[in-house]
Amino acid sequence: MLTRPFEARFCFTYRCNLKCHFCYERFARNLAQEELPLERWLQLIRELKQLAILKLTLIGGEPFCHPYMEHFLDELTNAPIRFDVGTNGTLLDDAWVRKLKQTARCASITLSLDGFKEYHDSIRGNGTFEAVLNAIQKLSDARIKTSVNVVASKDNYTTMPDFAQFLESLPIAAYTLYTRADQAHGENTLGGELNITELAHFIQIMDNLNLRKIDKNSTNLKLLDSLKNPPEVTDDGPQCLAPKATIGILPNGDVPVCSSYDNAEIVGNVKTRSIAEVWNNDITRDFIQQQIKGEPLPSQDCLDCIYRQFCRKSCPKLKKMPLCRRELAKELNLTSTD
Ligand SMILES: C[S@@+](CC[C@H](N)C(=O)[O-])C[C@H]1O[C@@H](n2cnc3c(N)ncnc32)[C@H](O)[C@@H]1O
Ligand code: SF4
Ligand code: SF4
Repeated sequence: MLTRPFEARFCFTYRCNLKCHFCYERFARNLAQEELPLERWLQLIRELKQLAILKLTLIGGEPFCHPYMEHFLDELTNAPIRFDVGTNGTLLDDAWVRKLKQTARCASITLSLDGFKEYHDSIRGNGTFEAVLNAIQKLSDARIKTSVNVVASKDNYTTMPDFAQFLESLPIAAYTLYTRADQAHGENTLGGELNITELAHFIQIMDNLNLRKIDKNSTNLKLLDSLKNPPEVTDDGPQCLAPKATIGILPNGDVPVCSSYDNAEIVGNVKTRSIAEVWNNDITRDFIQQQIKGEPLPSQDCLDCIYRQFCRKSCPKLKKMPLCRRELAKELNLTSTD
């Protein structure tokens, strides 16, 4: 039976006006690779309309530095698809904000902000912190919903309580705290990823804060909840919904098996095949089957672990960046860890 995704994520370019040293796109992908021509992208948007897709995310690289962006916004104007954009915010001037507003379909804009001015500018370049704050104000004035993505690393995680309070004061709807994922993208020499002790510390320092705008998908909230409420161990779950719900398309048309992880196995390409055809291909079905069955546990010691359901799940990102929840629970002095 043919199925369809509910959402789509176009990572349509790796080009960017910044050079953040930790950016996974910069070290995991070939920046010079061929990009699909504009006309194919516009056809893909039309395919999404036919499939009655609910939401499209435009991301990169930096969407607003690419010549296709204006054409995408024209195609999406008054379309039945709502869209959001992930951006570094440095290029969002009055003209772009007006254009976004005119589409009448912009669900939200997500900007990156990694800490206070000194830290953010050291990662992204001088003046970028102020540029993002200006963009947030413009979007707020235009009544466009705005969120912020924050990446916590060894260098900035202890400042997160203060920074979160600062984010609470901004005219944004929400912010999400992620942790840096060097290893997941094949790079373990940058050294910014939190080790298990630091991750536990990060979770502890964020746990008791009364934060109104923090998104529940934030690493610290999601992990703590999973440790306090481990899922029942069953034969067919839990399944990750991402590969069933969202199709991701990379600049050259490649489709990774998981849209939320660009570096996942490539399962198809939409340069000459339709989205529906690629979506319904055998490899995607196999992957979903594999998820349902679950994978073998990482070691014999895991057989009685109350968290073992997570480690049975087939996730291409976690395979590269394994996390033992039992070790983390011990670091956090949570009971019932055996
Ligand atoms: C690749 S960027 C693309 C969108 C836009 N250029 C931006 O910077 O927001 C998407 C998000 O990934 C985050 N990111 C980049 N490298 C990362 C890494 N190694 N680990 C975790 N997040 C990372 C960025 O901070 C940003 O929030
Ligand atoms: S602005 Fe975004 S895409 Fe560009 S280098 Fe930084 S994190 Fe990567
Ligand atoms: S959380 Fe750790 S001990 Fe438990 S199943 Fe996973 S790897 Fe094994």
